[in-house]
Amino acid sequence: MSGIPANRDSFGSRFGVIAATAGSAIGLGNIWRFPYVAGENGGGAFLIIYLGFILLIGIPVMLSEFTIGRSAQRNVFGSFRKLAPGKPWYLIGLMGVGAAFMILAFYTAVAGWTLEYIFQSVINGFEGLSSNQLNDMFYSFIGTPWRPLLWFFVFMALTGAIIMSGVQKGIEKYTKILMPMLLVLLFILVVRSVTLPGAASGISFLFKPDFSKITPTTILEALGQAFFSLSIGMGTLITYGSYIQKNDNLGNTAVSVAFADTFIAILAGLAIFPAVFAFGIEPGSGEGLVYITLPNIFLQMPGGYIFSLMFFILLGVAALTSTISVLEVIVAFFSEELGLKRKAATWLATSSVSILGVMCVLSSSTMADVKIFGFTVFNLMNFTSANILLPLGGFFIVIFVAWFLGRDGAKEELSNQGKLKVRYIPFYMFVIKFLAPLAIAFIFLQGVGLINFS
Ligand code: PHE
Repeated sequence: MSGIPANRDSFGSRFGVIAATAGSAIGLGNIWRFPYVAGENGGGAFLIIYLGFILLIGIPVMLSEFTIGRSAQRNVFGSFRKLAPGKPWYLIGLMGVGAAFMILAFYTAVAGWTLEYIFQSVINGFEGLSSNQLNDMFYSFIGTPWRPLLWFFVFMALTGAIIMSGVQKGIEKYTKILMPMLLVLLFILVVRSVTLPGAASGISFLFKPDFSKITPTTILEALGQAFFSLSIGMGTLITYGSYIQKNDNLGNTAVSVAFADTFIAILAGLAIFPAVFAFGIEPGSGEGLVYITLPNIFLQMPGGYIFSLMFFILLGVAALTSTISVLEVIVAFFSEELGLKRKAATWLATSSVSILGVMCVLSSSTMADVKIFGFTVFNLMNFTSANILLPLGGFFIVIFVAWFLGRDGAKEELSNQGKLKVRYIPFYMFVIKFLAPLAIAFIFLQGVGLINFS
């Protein structure tokens, strides 16, 4: 195959691996997507199902991606081609690249909103607004084409600039400092939110399961959210896995990252829902939820100006450490498979994704009436990538490791060629051979209405 440099880039340290991988996992998926999807799907019961999926399906899929990537040392498409030459498994790789296009397009649009909210924080734009006015402010912002478009391109350019400079030097260095800061700020917000008058109904909305709200679609949404939040099912972690050094403990890495990711999602829920109820906002109000609730909280805090500014900056950073991981999937593919230089591959990737991205941005304004299967372009990308492509990708990834690489192949890689004890292998093999694929297939078919067992 063409264009694979002898000295492929890699992560520098074990902490670097965690920072980059957790940086990919932790992002808008936790703080923007999780609260509103949970809100639309009944709260507590959704959370329990979500946690179950992280443990039983998410972590095994993540381990399988690491195994594939680190043993092949290639991009997502090249990995399957190398491990299964002449077989059609590379199609999973192509699907992963397709999912990366879709995710990057709508995700960068939302990341751009974060820049607008940084700007509003700077000019003190929330000052004196009621909760209704904050609501209007959000919808009139996304409803005017040029501003969100501008921010979209700024964010895409930032992502591209980092990717061009390689894997190790930029982001690995900064994520180590910035991610802990995000955690601290989120803590402060949780404290403010849960002490608001009326917070209790928000807490019980998040933690008290009402299973009557659960439908097959809810369960599919929980699965999709688990995949989306962990960055699994499309080869982000195959690509990142290919940069992990051979002496790293993949099992520990997967568990730590999944844990950190889940912890941040729950914290975000605890910051958002009490405020949702305290300010009379609809929990099911969709993708504006965080952008409307948080400014409400900031207005109720001493020092809200500075907290607001810091928070949106860090949210932007969290988004950036995720967008680079998605862009890296495409850039690694273009550079290794088409033999392009990293710079050219980045230009090609960012400009082609931007075509779809612009349509996502305009879905709230000029293209609001353009509907495909009843979805705007934005929602089509958001819904289908998370709830269809990622679970489908995850299904084939575990099948590939379980039935194609097999126990010996997986054990070889996960034990670092016999150097680590991997007592979890029998359990892991059982899960990826039977439990995970059957569960994914069932939830998927039931969720999209192809079978009906209820
Ligand atoms: N996991 C990221 C988040 O939660 C989003 C993402 C999805 C990143 C898929 C890479 C791949 O924000």
